[in-house]
Amino acid sequence: MILALETSCDETACAVVTEDGHVRANVVSSQAALHARYGGVVPEVASRRHLELATPVVREALGRANASLDDVSTVAVTRGPGLIGALLVGVQTAKAIAWSRRLPLVPVDHLHGHVASLFLRPEPFEPPLLCLLASGGHTLLLDVHDHAGWDVLGSTLDDAAGEAFDKGARLLGLGYPGGAAIEGLARQGDPEAFSFPVARVAGLDFSFSGVKTALLYAVRDLGEEVESRRADLAASYQRAIVRALVERTREAAEQTGAAKIAVVGGVAANSELRASLPDATAAPLALCTDNAAMIASAARFTRAVPYPSYLALDAYASR
Ligand code: KG4
Ligand code: ZN
Repeated sequence: MILALETSCDETACAVVTEDGHVRANVVSSQAALHARYGGVVPEVASRRHLELATPVVREALGRANASLDDVSTVAVTRGPGLIGALLVGVQTAKAIAWSRRLPLVPVDHLHGHVASLFLRPEPFEPPLLCLLASGGHTLLLDVHDHAGWDVLGSTLDDAAGEAFDKGARLLGLGYPGGAAIEGLARQGDPEAFSFPVARVAGLDFSFSGVKTALLYAVRDLGEEVESRRADLAASYQRAIVRALVERTREAAEQTGAAKIAVVGGVAANSELRASLPDATAAPLALCTDNAAMIASAARFTRAVPYPSYLALDAYASR
C-alpha cells in the first residue's frame, strides 16, 4: 500500500491507497477555522499546525485503513508547489517514515495530484482527456495525454478561480475560505441580478481580477443596501466565474477535439460549475479540495526515489 502525505497549504492530510488505486483511508484535517480570523492562510501558522497534526493524521489514516506501517510499500508526499514551510513539514515527515522502514519515497507534484484524483477506483477516468484544474492557487486547461503528462493549453493571467471566490467572499463579509460560502448564499439569490462580466483574454487563458473589481464597485455603490442584496451579489458573482470557466473549457474542447472532459481542484466542488458542464466528469467531491488520496494516486505514475537518496530531497514553492 501507498502511504501519502499532503501539507502544501492549510490541509494536513494522509491517505492509504492500494497500489492499484483503491482508497483505504483518506484523512483530511482542515486548518480553515484556525486561519479564518485572519481572513486567509497565514503561512507560519500553517507550518506550525502541520507539525502538530502530521503524526495524528498518519495514525488516524493507518487506523482507518486497518493497516500498520508493515503494510506500507511506498511513501508519497507533495513536494510542491505550495507554501514552502508547510510543504517542508510533509516532506520531512514522509522522509522520516520512509527512512525508518527503508522504503522508497515518491515526491509528487501537487497539480499532478489534482489531475490524478480522476484515476482512483472504483471509477477511474482515464486519459487522454481535457482537464480543467481550478483551485485556490491555479486555473489551468490541460491536455492530459497520459497518467503522468500534459500540455498546458491555458492558464490564468492573474487570480486563480478559487482565489476569486475567496476574495469575493471577503468583500461580501463571508469569511475564509469563500468558495463554499458563496455557493451556499448564491442558492437564495438571483444570478441575473447583477452583470459581472469576466474579461476575455487572448487564447485559452483566464483573467479573474476584473470580476473581483466589478464586485467591489457594486458593493460600494449599493452602500447600506448591500445587506439585502448579498445573495443576489453572490449568485451573480458565482455565475460570472462559472461562465468564464465553462466557456474556455468548451473552446479548448473544440480546438483539441477532446472526447473526454474532466474538472478537478477545489472549485470543481462547486455545484453550479458541475451542472454547467453536464458532459464533463468532475472528480468525486471528497477528492476536489486538497487531500492525500490524490497524491497517492499520482505516486502510482511517478518514479520512486530509492532509499536513502531521498534524504537530500527538497520542497519547491513554485514550479
Ligand atoms: O484545491 P484546493 O483545496 O487548494 C488549492 O490547491 O488551492 O482549492 C481550494 C479553493 C479555495 O479557493 C476555495 O474557495 C475553493 O477551492 N472552493 C470552492 C468550493 N469549495 C472550495 N469554490 C467554489 N465552490 C465551492 N463549493
Ligand atoms: Zn490543491
